Amino acid sequence: MNDQKTKILITGVAGLLGAHFSRHLLDKGYDVVGIDNLSGGYADYMDKRLIVEENFYDIDLADKNALEKIFSEHKPEYVYHFAAYAAEGLSPFIRNFNYTNNLICSVNVINACITHGTKKIIFTSSMAVYGHGTPPFKENQTPSPADPYGIAKYAVEMDLKQAYEQFGLNYSIVRPHNVIGIYQNIWDKYRNVIGIWIRNALAGDPILVYGDGTQKRAFSDIAFYLEAFEKLMEGFDEEIFNLGADREYDLNTIAALVQKIGIEHGHNAEIKHVEGRMEVKDAYCDHGKAKKLLDFKDNTDIESTIREMFAWAQQQPKRESKQMEYEVEKNMYSFWK
Ligand SMILES: NC(=O)c1ccc[n+]([C@@H]2O[C@H](COP(=O)([O-])OP(=O)(O)OC[C@H]3O[C@@H](n4cnc5c(N)ncnc54)[C@H](O)[C@@H]3O)[C@@H](O)[C@H]2O)c1
Repeated sequence: MNDQKTKILITGVAGLLGAHFSRHLLDKGYDVVGIDNLSGGYADYMDKRLIVEENFYDIDLADKNALEKIFSEHKPEYVYHFAAYAAEGLSPFIRNFNYTNNLICSVNVINACITHGTKKIIFTSSMAVYGHGTPPFKENQTPSPADPYGIAKYAVEMDLKQAYEQFGLNYSIVRPHNVIGIYQNIWDKYRNVIGIWIRNALAGDPILVYGDGTQKRAFSDIAFYLEAFEKLMEGFDEEIFNLGADREYDLNTIAALVQKIGIEHGHNAEIKHVEGRMEVKDAYCDHGKAKKLLDFKDNTDIESTIREMFAWAQQQPKRESKQMEYEVEKNMYSFWK
């Protein structure tokens, strides 16, 4: 139990990482304040304690005045900046939105941390910064992002370094990849592949695999991130850590697994292959640094996590899958038209 009541601000508190990590911190006795504009997460994903204690703010991080008020009132010692719209494949079609939401909004958070003397900011970047590099990706590899989402993440990483050098704002960077678990947004048309397939299966739609399905990804259960995130509060300043699973699967294997679990729940969805997307073929990371320094252990049992997500998804209200406003329609994939 933490008697100090350290005050921690989490942006993106209604999303997958925020919903799990805020519960983890509240259970440990930390004082948690959350921000989310509910664009990608849902109010009922959040821990009720945040609402009861009036520690949740439904604001957009683009709103500098609102952010300033929250920092003035709460003076958070630590900030976990999770809020973003993480849709790599879509990001070339929503460039302006991508850079506004993922880069400029992050800059607003960094400015507030500098102004209010925040001890440290922990930023979730992404494996997307490695782009077309050769996997397994290592933290010391020079980033080479292949899409605007990865470019925005890398720009924030560089901005944090500058803010540290000029203003002494401490930071740690996490590059997670393919995190799964309950409280994932399974209604988004553009991201969270396992969530999309669970939604497809529940709706009686085909499980759509982009391309030939041989692209490889390593999925990890959010449960294994929480201790490592917490450890980043003290020490590991100016360090970057890959976090995620070591074991990669091709997407055909995962689609077959979702199909099998769907059948067990009475939903028999066919698997259908459609045109490929512009995406990195094989993307997975080396986690040696996090294992050594953070004692990070990923023990994801992919089948049981998907089973848990499926059972949870069945209990969820039917939510709308919204179409984004495209800024560029050239070369748009047929499945997103
Ligand atoms: N989940 C993954 O596999 C993964 C992988 C790599 C990186 N990341 C990064 O980790 C972070 C959290 O990811 P997640 O999976 O929890 O995503 P998520 O979409 O589930 O959660 C993000 C939350 O941020 C909120 N948000 C977005 N823009 C906002 C804004 N302008 N103002 C206020 N709130 C805003 C959304 O409403 C959402 O609830 C993101 O930065 C993401 O880029 C996630």
